[in-house]
Amino acid sequence: MKLLVIGCKGQLGSDMVVLARKAGHEVVCTDTPDIDIADAHSVKAALMRCDPEGVVNCAAYTNVDGCETNRELAFAVNAAGAGNVAAAADAVGALTMHISTDFVFDGLLGRSLTESDTPNPQSVYGKSKLEGERLVLANTRRAQIFRIAWLYGLHGNNFVKNIRAIAQKKSGSGEVLKVVDDQFGTPTFTREVCRQILAMLSVGEYGVFHGTAEGYCSKFDFARHIIKKAGIPLEIVPCTTDEFPMPARRPVFGVLENSRLKALGKNVMVDWKAAFEEFLEAEKKI
Ligand SMILES: NC(=O)c1ccc[n+]([C@@H]2O[C@H](COP(=O)([O-])OP(=O)(O)OC[C@H]3O[C@@H](n4cnc5c(N)ncnc54)[C@H](OP(=O)(O)O)[C@@H]3O)[C@@H](O)[C@H]2O)c1
Repeated sequence: MKLLVIGCKGQLGSDMVVLARKAGHEVVCTDTPDIDIADAHSVKAALMRCDPEGVVNCAAYTNVDGCETNRELAFAVNAAGAGNVAAAADAVGALTMHISTDFVFDGLLGRSLTESDTPNPQSVYGKSKLEGERLVLANTRRAQIFRIAWLYGLHGNNFVKNIRAIAQKKSGSGEVLKVVDDQFGTPTFTREVCRQILAMLSVGEYGVFHGTAEGYCSKFDFARHIIKKAGIPLEIVPCTTDEFPMPARRPVFGVLENSRLKALGKNVMVDWKAAFEEFLEAEKKI
């Protein structure tokens, strides 16, 4: 299939390009400054030039805390931009694959969430991404929206790299590392998301899909696992979100259940710890 990957320099997009090519697809890729998804003309022109059969939109304004003070930009990119991509894809007869987030939920139910659960975003980022989902679905009937969470990969910045960097700095200084133990989710490796998207390309099922790795943990559990695997000697201590207030409110129990993928027999996700091992192995090769 001829695929256009938008946001190809980002964490997810860069792996998407590599894995889609490995899977035998013809891949054209683009990112800023060559395209601005907030600009409908820019998106239309890119789609007309490429004339793809599928568009994977990995582009977004992903600075969750930055969105709180840049509401306009968040909605221009994550909401209007998502709609622009879906509309332009529809116009050339291409399937839209869009990426959304656990931040569309408040996570207050204390159980894992399926696609039937009602979103209730608590942050500007979450609100802009939910509006993006709505605009994608309003602009094309052939869209697959994958809600993912706690993404990490080889490229770009993420929780894994941040925790390691902080741990290295604190190690041997007598300081401890405090990490919140009251936010739950599922760490999800970029390559797993790419494989999941590729597995859904020809299925002919549309709408919203939850697509995270299996299992879940708290941020504290994840940080402890990262540090243990990195072999960094450091005491790590659980704390509450109240002790670490951030501008954007995070989902409390943002654990997503891949119900629709499982019902279709298409869930390719493995347990998050197994996926993390694959990530560590992949890191050794770069
Ligand atoms: N990261 C997570 O933990 C996480 C969790 C759940 C869901 N998601 C979703 O997963 C998707 C991929 O996230 P990611 O972590 O791979 O993001 P990322 O690393 O921040 O990459 C996003 C890419 O989009 C580009 N971009 C930003 N604004 C754009 C615009 N107006 N037009 C075109 N391109 C633009 C960025 O370019 P610049 O760098 O030049 O701005 C960057 O290359 C996003 O939809 C995100 O909302 C992420």
